[in-house]
Amino acid sequence: MIAQETIRQILNHIDIVDIVGSFVKLKKRGANYLGLCPFHNEKTPSFTVSPSKEIYKCFGCGRSGNTVSFLMEHEKYSYVETLRWLANKYNIEIEETEASPELKLQQQVAESLYIINSYAQKYFSDILFNDDEGQNIGLSYLKERGFREAIIQKFQLGYCLEQRDAFAKKALASQFNNEYLQKSGLVVMRDDKPADNYRGRIIFPVHNQTGKVIGFGARIIKSNDKAPKYINTPENEIYIKSKILYGSYFARQAIDKNDECLLVEGYTDVISLHQAGIEHVVASGGTSLTQDQLRLIKKYTNNLTIIYDGDAAGIKAALRGLDMALEEGLNVKLVLIPDKEDPDSYVNKIGAAAFRDFVAANKKDFILFQLEVSLKEAGNDSSKKAAVVNQVAETIAKMNKIEDFTRQQDYVQQCAQLLGIEETGLHTLVNKFIREKISKEEFKSAQKNTPPAKLQQQPAEPGDLSDETFNLLFQDELQERAIVRVLLTYGAKQWAGEKTIADYIFEDEIDEEMFKNKKVAEVLKIYKEKNREGQQLSVADFAYFEDSEIVKLVIESTNHPYELSHRWNDEDRAHTINKAIWELKYEEFSSKVLYNKNAASEVFLYNVEDNYRDEADGVMVYLKLKKIKRLILLNEEDLKKPTSTAEEIKHFQEVHMHLKQMQIELGNRKGTIVYPF
Ligand code: GTP
Ligand code: MN
Repeated sequence: MIAQETIRQILNHIDIVDIVGSFVKLKKRGANYLGLCPFHNEKTPSFTVSPSKEIYKCFGCGRSGNTVSFLMEHEKYSYVETLRWLANKYNIEIEETEASPELKLQQQVAESLYIINSYAQKYFSDILFNDDEGQNIGLSYLKERGFREAIIQKFQLGYCLEQRDAFAKKALASQFNNEYLQKSGLVVMRDDKPADNYRGRIIFPVHNQTGKVIGFGARIIKSNDKAPKYINTPENEIYIKSKILYGSYFARQAIDKNDECLLVEGYTDVISLHQAGIEHVVASGGTSLTQDQLRLIKKYTNNLTIIYDGDAAGIKAALRGLDMALEEGLNVKLVLIPDKEDPDSYVNKIGAAAFRDFVAANKKDFILFQLEVSLKEAGNDSSKKAAVVNQVAETIAKMNKIEDFTRQQDYVQQCAQLLGIEETGLHTLVNKFIREKISKEEFKSAQKNTPPAKLQQQPAEPGDLSDETFNLLFQDELQERAIVRVLLTYGAKQWAGEKTIADYIFEDEIDEEMFKNKKVAEVLKIYKEKNREGQQLSVADFAYFEDSEIVKLVIESTNHPYELSHRWNDEDRAHTINKAIWELKYEEFSSKVLYNKNAASEVFLYNVEDNYRDEADGVMVYLKLKKIKRLILLNEEDLKKPTSTAEEIKHFQEVHMHLKQMQIELGNRKGTIVYPF
C-alpha cells in the first residue's frame, strides 16, 4: 500500500497543464489553456484547462475533473495505478506501508486455495487416466466427443468419481483444511459430513493468466433434467467470475501472433478449436461480457472476433457485449455459426481447414452488420429509418477513446453511405449522443451524492423525428433546394466586383451527377445557359414551364422560409458571444450557445450584413464539399488498384490528405445557414 505521505507528495507535484498537455495539444488562452477535447469528437477546441483551479472542463461535452481523474478516465488507470504513474513521472520514491491484517489474511487464503486447486487438478486428471471408472466413463466420454489425449492433457481435464466423498477423504487425509476445501467449492457439507461437489462429472480446470488453477467447471455426463449441466467454483479470493476468460492462459501467445482474439461461449468450444489449431480463442463462460474481461482482451489485442451461435439468443448475447467492447476501444467483428451448432460441434463437423475458411469468409464488421440488419427491417418507412439513424449514431458515439477518432470517422463515412445521408450530419448526431452520454454519466454520479430524485427521463420514441434527425435525412434535399432559391432570388445580385452571385455559383464546373434531385440539376442547367447569355432567371420565368415538377420545385424552393437562423440575427448577442469566446468566459458562452453544434465557428463566420452573400456562400460550400467527396471516392478507387506503383500510391495518398484537409476546412465553414423547421 502506498503511504499517505507519498500520496501527499505526489499530489503536491501535480502540474495539470504538464500532465494533460502530454495527451492533449494545449494552447494558452488568457489565464487558461485550450485544446481539442480528448473525450469527444470535435473540430473546434472547447476543452479548457485551468492551472489555477487545477481542473479541466470541456464545454462541448461537459466532462470535467482534476489531473488524477483525467488520468483515470483517459488512460483507464485505477487510482493506485494513477498514483504510481505520477510518482514515476516526478521521480518520487513510493513508500509502501505494511499490508493491513485483513490484506495479509486474504493473501494467505488465496495461497491456500491455489495449493488446494493444484492438488485437486492433479487428483482428477489421475483418476481420468488411471482409474477404471475414470477411463470407462470420463475418458471414453471425452474421446467420443472427439477430444484427443494430447488436448485433454494440455487443458488438464479430469474426472470426479461418483462416490460420495472420494476426493474429500483423500484431501482431508493429506491435511488440507476443511474450511478452505469448502471455500474452493470442491467439497460441500452434506448431512454435516464433507462430500464431493462434482461427483460423476468431467472436470475443466480454469487457469489464470500465469497458468495457476483458480477454479473448475464440472460438466455432467449423463444428461439430467434436474441437475445443472455445469457446476462452477463459487466466488472466492481467487475465483472472481467477472475477471475470468477461460483459456486465456493457453491463448496468450497466439492472440499476440494473430493480433486478434476469438471469443466463444463455452469450455468445449475453446478446447475443440485448440485441437483444430486455432489457439487464439477464449470463452466468456456463457454469460455476457464484463468490462474487466474486455480490458483483459485489450491488453493483448484491439481486435475481437465474437463467434457465437447464429440463433437469436446467440446474436442477442453477442450484441450485449458490443457497446461495452466499443467503449473499450476494441474493433469488433462477428461470425455467426449456422443453426443448431456451436463452434465445438461445427469444427468437429466440417474439419479444421473448413472452419478456418468459414471464419475468414463470414467475419462481419459488427456495426455495419447491425446497420444492415436494421435497414433491411426498416425498408422504406422513414420513421423507422430515422430510428435506425439514431441507433447507429448512438453506437458510433460509444467509441469515445482518442485513438478511435479515425475509426469513428470511417464508420461515420461508411454508415452515412449505407444510409444515403450526409456525412457531416451524421457526425453532428454522433456528437449529440456523446454529449448526452456524458451528461447522463454526470447525472448518475451526481445522484450518488444526493438523495435519489423522482425524476423520470422521458425516453424518446423509436420513431421520433428530432430536428436533427430530420435535417439529416433530408439535408441533401434541403441544400439542393437552397441552391435553386439562391439562384432565383439573388442570382443577379453582386457577389464581388463585376461578378454576380450566379457567376460565383457557376464558377466551378457543376457536375449533374452529384444531385439527388435530378430536377434541381435540370433547373441549374437551364439557368446556366441563360446566365451565359447574360440573363438571370427568376421564379416568374419558370411559372409556365411545361414540366410541372420543375414548376413545383421552383415554387416550393423559393417560397420556403429559408433564412439565417434567428439565433444569429441578433447582433448584440453575437457580439456578447464573440467576446465571451475571446475572453474564454466559457460559463457564459456555454450557457448561451451550447445547444448549437458548431457554435464557435458559426459565430466567427457570422457576418451580420450581406445575408444573401452568406447564403450564396453556404450553397457554394455545400457544392464544393460534394465535389470533394466525389474526388475522394474516385481517388480511393485509384488507391485500391492493385496495379499501382509505390510512387503512384504515394501520390494518391498525398491527394487524399489534401482533399481531406480541404474537406475539413470547408466543413468548418458549413453551417452558416440554418434551416428552420
Ligand atoms: P457442451 O454442451 O459440453 O458442448 O458444453 P458447452 O460449452 O457447449 O455448453 P453450452 O453451450 O451449453 O454453454 C456454454 C457455457 O455456458 C459453458 O461452457 C459453461 O461455461 C456455461 N454453462 C452452461 N450451462 C451451465 C450451467 O448449467 N451452469 C453454469 N454455471 N454454467 C453453465
Ligand atoms: Mn457445445
